[in-house]
Amino acid sequence: MSGIGSTGQRACLAVPGADERKLAKAAALDADEIVIDLEDAVAPAGKRAARAAVASWLSSGVRLRGRVAVRVNTPGTSWCHRDIEACVRLETVHSIVVPKVESAADLAFVGRLLDGLELEVGRERPVRVQALIETAAGLAGIAGIVAATPRLDSLVLGYADLAASIGRSVAAGPGAWVAIQDTVLVAGRRAGLAVVDGPHLGVAVDDTFLAGVRHAADAGFDGKWVIHPGQIDAVTAAFTPAPDRIEWAERVVTALSEGHGSGVGAIDVDGQMVDEAVAAVARRVLARADGGLR
Ligand code: COA
Ligand code: MG
Repeated sequence: MSGIGSTGQRACLAVPGADERKLAKAAALDADEIVIDLEDAVAPAGKRAARAAVASWLSSGVRLRGRVAVRVNTPGTSWCHRDIEACVRLETVHSIVVPKVESAADLAFVGRLLDGLELEVGRERPVRVQALIETAAGLAGIAGIVAATPRLDSLVLGYADLAASIGRSVAAGPGAWVAIQDTVLVAGRRAGLAVVDGPHLGVAVDDTFLAGVRHAADAGFDGKWVIHPGQIDAVTAAFTPAPDRIEWAERVVTALSEGHGSGVGAIDVDGQMVDEAVAAVARRVLARADGGLR
């Protein structure tokens, strides 16, 4: 099973829920997903007002280009359950992002709360769930977390909180995160989930940013969070297969199918060996090229 390409989350733009100007701007941007934040980008004193403002904005008939996710506050805080309740009442909210998920129990709580609220309000489409893995406990509990609720679509890495949780510098280079990225990628893929890379904290589209984007795309992530509108296009492009790659994938799939037709399992395409394993890579490229939000 694999989630590659299935959720279509290439560029996911985080927008502070308390900032009406940025919300209005985000509506017209070309991100696959906008993640309206009620958590860390909202000051504690402004949590309730931000929740109310987001609810009123989303129910005002605003047209959004990207799919809508809302990052609620962490389970166990005084805001989480009311954030989730507000999201259930908003049909435009496709998913909630649960921060600092530490165990399967955190997601089981969210899943049961959603069950009851959806019954109460008669919601048409179930709210999907994305889990932010951004603590040492979340990493240690990953095997249980990925199986905690059938609502779960995606895992997302959060570097700033991870840095705080494990005592790593936020300035540590990309190489410092490889083991953690692979832990989350492998666990997510094993469970058929999409896996999305966390945001770079700089707002510029500079060499450091672009190297991180390239690294995430090559490593196998489905997409990446961004914090600034100027970063959307580079991320969308990096997570979209280039035309020559799609053409290669089509040739591989066709050539191997012809090979199988004549009883041959390994063939030569452009001087490279192609067998079923390479064809599986090619099919993933084609699935990702199809995009397709679910
Ligand atoms: N979503 C929508 N619009 C945004 C945006 C975002 N994430 N970030 C910036 N913009 C808008 C600004 O409002 C501004 O538009 P305007 O000129 O019409 O007012 C324009 O893009 C240029 O912004 P800029 O001046 O370069 O940045 P800023 O100083 O306004 O904001 C940040 C910088 C980092 C505060 C801002 O990008 C931000 O809030 N990012 C998201 C933070 C977040 O959600 N964090 C939590 C999850 S990681
Ligand atoms: Mg955080």
